[in-house]
Amino acid sequence: MELLDKLNWRYAAKAMNGETVPEDKIGRILEAARLAPTSSGLQPFEIIVIKNQAIKEKIKPVAWNQSVITDCSHLLVFAAWDTYTADRINYIFDLTNDIRGFKNEGWENYRQMLLNSYPQKDAEENFNHATKQAYIAFSQAISAAAFEGVDATPLEGFDPAAVDAILGLREKGLRSAVLLPLGYRKEDKDWLVNLVKVRKPMEDLVTVID
Ligand SMILES: Cc1cc2nc3c(=O)[nH]c(=O)nc-3n(C[C@H](O)[C@H](O)[C@H](O)COP(=O)(O)O)c2cc1C
Repeated sequence: MELLDKLNWRYAAKAMNGETVPEDKIGRILEAARLAPTSSGLQPFEIIVIKNQAIKEKIKPVAWNQSVITDCSHLLVFAAWDTYTADRINYIFDLTNDIRGFKNEGWENYRQMLLNSYPQKDAEENFNHATKQAYIAFSQAISAAAFEGVDATPLEGFDPAAVDAILGLREKGLRSAVLLPLGYRKEDKDWLVNLVKVRKPMEDLVTVID
């Protein structure tokens, strides 16, 4: 199947059947998220993978009681950094130097530029920026899930503060940004499964400037 066929196959499943997604598929979906591009390569987020049914049950009531929270196989929580700190910025620059095995003046100047900017900014502004980066990985995970024949329901309908408290995210300098239940559609219980996908026409989306 071509990529576009897979993207047409996918939809935001409203009901899942509780079947377990094999770990190799989950691993490839997470790897796609890890490979997502991010601003300055900082990857300012973490992904929490919830398999534990009791934790899913706790999250469901603070996520509009959406059934996919408990009927999914793995619940991914994309949690963004609560702010950018010097340590967090240095971590990724040092990691780059370690992996590549050399230091580069231009790269070090760029590190200093970021150190002189992000940590001085308002935490909320930094969190919003980090959240945008998390969404890039989130989107890549959605596409990768479709590629694997796994259903995924992008989910913003939840109380982030409550999810943060359940998972102890604030203590780790993280805040939940968006959720992604992964599993398999329950066709006979899903009102959306047979409805035609609706997207605005290309001409309303794209402007070409020759
Ligand atoms: C960031 C984001 C948040 C969403 N939140 C929810 C949600 O809380 N519950 C839900 O049922 N669908 C949610 N959706 C699904 C959208 O309604 C759905 O993707 C959109 O209508 C397009 O339909 P399709 O994904 O089925 O093609 C969300 C989608 C995105 C991208």
